[in-house]
Amino acid sequence: MDKKTEQISSFKAAMGNYPTGVTVVTAFNQQGKPMGLTVNSFASVSLEPLLILWSIDKRVYSYEDFLKVDKFTVNILASDQSDLCTLFSSKVEDRFSQCDWKKSELELPVLADTLATLQCKVFSQIDAGDHTTIIGEVIDIRNEDKEPLLYHRRTIGPIPNEFYS
Ligand SMILES: Cc1cc2nc3c(=O)[nH]c(=O)nc-3n(C[C@H](O)[C@H](O)[C@H](O)COP(=O)(O)O)c2cc1C
Repeated sequence: MDKKTEQISSFKAAMGNYPTGVTVVTAFNQQGKPMGLTVNSFASVSLEPLLILWSIDKRVYSYEDFLKVDKFTVNILASDQSDLCTLFSSKVEDRFSQCDWKKSELELPVLADTLATLQCKVFSQIDAGDHTTIIGEVIDIRNEDKEPLLYHRRTIGPIPNEFYS
């Protein structure tokens, strides 16, 4: 293995060891069709104003469409929604015919029964290597009293029972 391949492999191992929640980012494209993908690069950025970020791989099918939208939804998945994590990272073309969702008052696609929904308008886009980081200003927040879905070492699942004990 050459030095660069070794570094990439160590980087993937380090990042894979870092647990995250799981979200599905959704938006309508220019033709009014819903689009979305599973995202774990989501993070909080600022309180004043309320900012969040996520990064999109330039190879994602809907990449060009996501760069054109002025608003999007971050759907934070609940512990019983691993099927949505799989659906929105699969090769299924019409992902929205296989899940429960609606158009919100802010005219954004919102998935049903999630842990939280953050509707955002695009604040900035930052070109970052093979990804683009999208920063969003949060314009609407909905929270539900549910447990999160976690992602760690390529495994998805709920918080283990012993976590809070
Ligand atoms: C747990 C998990 C987290 C992911 N996080 C991201 C992410 O933050 N950014 C991204 O571009 N792709 C991420 N992906 C991959 C995309 O969901 C996947 O490449 C995309 O849905 C493929 O879509 P396409 O067929 O439309 O290209 C993640 C996948 C999984 C399973």
